[in-house]
Amino acid sequence: MRILIVGNGGREHALLWKLRRDAPDAEFFATRPNGGMSPLCQSVEIAPTDVEALADWAAANRIDLTVVGPEGPLAAGLTDRFEEEGLSVFGPTKAAARIEASKAYAKELLRNANVPTAEHRTFSNQAGAEAWVHEVGAPIVVKASGLAAGKGAVVCMTVEDAIEAIRSMLGDMDFGEAGREIVIEEFMDGEEISVFAVCDGKDFVLLQPSQDHKRVGEGDAGPNTGGMGAYAPVSIATAEVVEEARSEVIVPTLNALAADGAPFRGLLYAGLMNTSEGLKVVEFNCRFGDPETQIVLPLMDSSLLELMLTVAEGRSLAGMTAAVRPGAAVTTVLASGGYPGSYEKGKPITVPDELESDDLIVFHAGTAATEDGLVTSGGRVLAVTAIAATFAGAANASRAAAARIEFDGAFYRSDIGWRERARLDPQTDPREE
Ligand code: AMP
Ligand code: GLY
Repeated sequence: MRILIVGNGGREHALLWKLRRDAPDAEFFATRPNGGMSPLCQSVEIAPTDVEALADWAAANRIDLTVVGPEGPLAAGLTDRFEEEGLSVFGPTKAAARIEASKAYAKELLRNANVPTAEHRTFSNQAGAEAWVHEVGAPIVVKASGLAAGKGAVVCMTVEDAIEAIRSMLGDMDFGEAGREIVIEEFMDGEEISVFAVCDGKDFVLLQPSQDHKRVGEGDAGPNTGGMGAYAPVSIATAEVVEEARSEVIVPTLNALAADGAPFRGLLYAGLMNTSEGLKVVEFNCRFGDPETQIVLPLMDSSLLELMLTVAEGRSLAGMTAAVRPGAAVTTVLASGGYPGSYEKGKPITVPDELESDDLIVFHAGTAATEDGLVTSGGRVLAVTAIAATFAGAANASRAAAARIEFDGAFYRSDIGWRERARLDPQTDPREE
């Protein structure tokens, strides 16, 4: 079997790692693979969003399955184009990808389907947006409707902050086209859970819930990033909570998309807030989350490939399940100094030889293999995943391994999973071990 992975970040390295385990004899290809992926696959020198060139390449190279990592190519219609060629692809069509690519579309769909989410309004007119903020007050959240690489949501604690966010998006066009339309919504208080569902348009298989850490600083301080670390299992995601996610969120959302002529085939990622009124949707993504994938897949104890092939070949997932291995996983992201602002690239990276094992995996994100060795090439550079019998064991192992990797300007959060640790052992401060 010949498998193409589109994308070259930490998520795609984790997909490649898992699919190689599921299909040891398969041949793997990836678009511009990073330094961790390149020894494991053949490189395809085509940009992920160049869907025409990719479809031609995949047809000419007899690719059996294409797995799309990032949202950009999906929103650009990669799946539609591949399906025209008769190619099997795991990832939603352009119409279904709107669940992520247009927050205005997603919010309207959720409202019509009675899926719990924050009360909202959509605006493309600055005066109207400002008037509504004055009417409802703060805290409030202002979001660019389009794709903004995880940076399009501004949580505003004051009306003044919200007015500034509106001006930056609708007035100054700081988010470009993505901010031409904005969604303003009620602030939701609670803890977030990421839920991944492999969907065939109607039926779905839930993977293990996890928790991301979006803020750059310890204790969840500072600006949002693409994600600084993640862990699973999450003890607040009880069987009841998972059932609520299934029946109140995933089922009605899939039904609404199908009724809208956009059945969702691929990975639906529900970002959920566990509020005092129950689960509410923060956002949907049309692809796997990063860095959650770097823990969910290592803990998965059944074939992901089988689920993906079932969906990509248009068969039904009814009756299928995903097994989870016992224990816990924690991943710690090592980032470049300055991230999520500007940062330098090309810094040599040192990973000790004996660091990796069955229970310690270094997933590469922004790295490149050069003649002089491994160097940094992005903001989030590596994700260090540890698996252990207990949460504390995994957290300690992930942090200890992160501390042993070196590059100029490297930093990481040493408190990944701090909420879980406080729940399990309220006496312990994770930073004082
Ligand atoms: P989004 O781009 O919609 O995923 O939002 C990014 C992050 O902003 C989320 O992961 C939350 O931490 C936060 N956020 C977004 N919407 C809300 C909301 N309505 N209430 C509270 N926090 C939010
Ligand atoms: N973990 C956040 C995201 O992938 O969007």
